Amino acid sequence: MNKEIIKLSKISKKFLSPDKNISVLKNINLKINKGELVSLVGPSGSGKSTLLHIIALLDQPSSGEIFFKSKNFSRSSDSEKDIVRKKGISVIYQQNNLLSDFTALENVTIPLLNNGIGINDATKKATKILSTVNLSKRLNHFPSELSGGEQQRVAVSRALITEPDIILADEPTGSLDRKTADEIFSLFLKMKSKNRAVLYATHNRELANRADYKLNLLDGNITRKYE
Ligand SMILES: Nc1ncnc2c1ncn2[C@@H]1O[C@H](COP(=O)(O)OP(=O)(O)O)[C@@H](O)[C@H]1O
Ligand SMILES: [Mg+2]
Repeated sequence: MNKEIIKLSKISKKFLSPDKNISVLKNINLKINKGELVSLVGPSGSGKSTLLHIIALLDQPSSGEIFFKSKNFSRSSDSEKDIVRKKGISVIYQQNNLLSDFTALENVTIPLLNNGIGINDATKKATKILSTVNLSKRLNHFPSELSGGEQQRVAVSRALITEPDIILADEPTGSLDRKTADEIFSLFLKMKSKNRAVLYATHNRELANRADYKLNLLDGNITRKYE
C-alpha cells in the first residue's frame, strides 16, 4: 500500500515585483506519509505560510511538481483541486475564519453536510468533537460570543471533522494559552492515530519537538531534523 500523501518535487516559489524579486522556496523536495505528525519551523518570513499554501493547492509554485496521493496536481484545474480540498486537505489558520452568522455547532457541521452526510449524523458527530475540546456548553454560541481560544478550538474541530488525509495548520496555537494548545495538539495526535497526516507551522519550540520530525525552513531550503 502506498503511504505517501504529499510529494513535492523541485518546488520553487518566487515573488516578483517591480523593485525586488524574492526567492522564497528553492528546489524543495519533500514527502509526507500517512500517520506522520510533522512540524514546520523557521524564522518569520522564511516561507512557512507560502509552503503550506502550495501544499494546500491554494497557491501555484513558480516551478516544480506537486503530487497528492501520487496524482500530479501541478497543472490541474481549479475544480479538480476543489474536490481534493473538500475531502482530502484541511487548513487551519492562526486567525480562524469561522462563519460569523452560524453557531459553533453549525460551523463544525457544515463541512460534513457539504460532503453529503445527513443532518442528524453530522450534528451528532460535530457535537462529539466539540465536547472533546470542552465546548459542550458553547454549541449554540456565535463566534462573536466566544473567546479567541474557544473560536480556535471550533476552527480546529471544523478542520478535523471530515478526517481529511492531511491537516495543514499555520501557527494554529500561536495565540492560545498552554492548556488550549495542549487540547488542540491532542486532536492532532488523534488524527495521527487514525493514520492521517498533520503538518503544522509553529514558533513554539516545545510544541515543534513533539512532532515525529521537524522540517526546518531556512533561506529557501528545507532540512529534516529528528530530536
Ligand atoms: N503575495 C506575496 N507577494 C510578495 N511577497 C510575498 C507574498 N507572500 C509572501 N511574500 C514574502 O515571502 C516571504 C515568506 O513569507 P511567508 O511565507 O508568509 O513566511 P512565514 O510564514 O515563514 O513567516 C516573506 O518575505 C514575504 O514578505
Ligand atoms: Mg506565516
